[in-house]
Amino acid sequence: MTQRTRVGIIFGGTSSEHDVSCMTAGGVARAIDTDRFELIGIGITPAGRWVQVDADELRELHKQGDELPRLDESRPTAVLLPGADGAGARVATIDGDRLVDVRPFDVAFTLLHGPFGEDGTIQGMFEMLGVTYVGSGVAASANGMDKDLMKRTLSASGLPGCRFVTITARQWSQEREASLERIAALGYPIFVKPARGGSSMGITKVDTLEELEQAVLFAQKFDPKLVIEEGVLGAREVEFAVLGGRGGAPRVSLPGEIVMRSDGAFYDFEAKYVSDDDAILKVPTEMDPGLRERAADVAARTFEAMGAEGLARVDLFLTADGQVLVNEINTMPGFTHISMFPSLWAASGIDYTALITDLIEQALERPVGLR
Ligand SMILES: Nc1ncnc2c1ncn2[C@@H]1O[C@H](COP(=O)(O)OP(=O)(O)O)[C@@H](O)[C@H]1O
Ligand SMILES: [Mg+2]
Repeated sequence: MTQRTRVGIIFGGTSSEHDVSCMTAGGVARAIDTDRFELIGIGITPAGRWVQVDADELRELHKQGDELPRLDESRPTAVLLPGADGAGARVATIDGDRLVDVRPFDVAFTLLHGPFGEDGTIQGMFEMLGVTYVGSGVAASANGMDKDLMKRTLSASGLPGCRFVTITARQWSQEREASLERIAALGYPIFVKPARGGSSMGITKVDTLEELEQAVLFAQKFDPKLVIEEGVLGAREVEFAVLGGRGGAPRVSLPGEIVMRSDGAFYDFEAKYVSDDDAILKVPTEMDPGLRERAADVAARTFEAMGAEGLARVDLFLTADGQVLVNEINTMPGFTHISMFPSLWAASGIDYTALITDLIEQALERPVGLR
């Protein structure tokens, strides 16, 4: 028997999405093709310590009743090390002044969302260690996380998006008049967003000038840099799951759609994670074939323009007058088996197990360097 590829599953983390990440890790561990892959569990506790988790424990991570899985702080701290012969990496547990349970792995599969997972930081650490990893590299991850850099990249690449302005903390405090003029030129309503956010945290829909200052102060709690956009009204919110092309053009799934139950509502934190009935996810969604082709092409070009690798979800607005606008790219989209990304691929003929295999194969095929 040829040796199985050893996959380091990295999950948990210090963010508010710790529990979701643990649940995702359990789902991936149960679905992964164990004939081909061996699992090495590497958790990050809510306090930020790295710990080892056995493959069997990994498979046990799931929702029990209303309880989401979490890593507790009782495990001893682990560290990552370079691989033995300059290939892959190793995880080891610290026992006093010794390292024990040293486990090599060939490829890292990170199941973390947001800062320190999706933003290029952990990708940079993998590069320094010399370990292959699933998904986008350093620059694409960092640019995808930052709505300001993302929008500038897309607009420079000729991809359609809504009008926006970027306001730094310095501009808001020292150049208030000029900032207000730039914002006013967008017209109302507007969306005020932290540039490097996620999960709709810190985002406010602002209908009048009177509400602006409060929305700015709120968003600045998450990031001193803000992106303020014109509100796209009456549009459909459509998402495509994209996979790297493995030598060809990026592969694009069937479209999915988020339908808000009440008019004027948007896909905020509450609708994403708290309430069961604010939003309906349609997988796949109905769309005129011509429009679908045009939108799928925008999704593929967005993936390429951003330099994304492996996987990404591209979120679009389809306006009533037929425009396709890019809202954002997510380089580490939700990845539980019921999340939009895996569900769209399942509807498009690649099931969860095959999807995980595809992503690991892509990581192993990727040439070295140029991140
Ligand atoms: N310019 C806009 N016009 C209309 N709705 C918007 C706009 N920007 C964001 N939204 C709504 O807010 C939600 C969250 O915004 P988004 O930029 O996707 O933030 P996040 O990165 O946190 O998901 C979107 O899914 C959409 O429902
Ligand atoms: Mg979004």
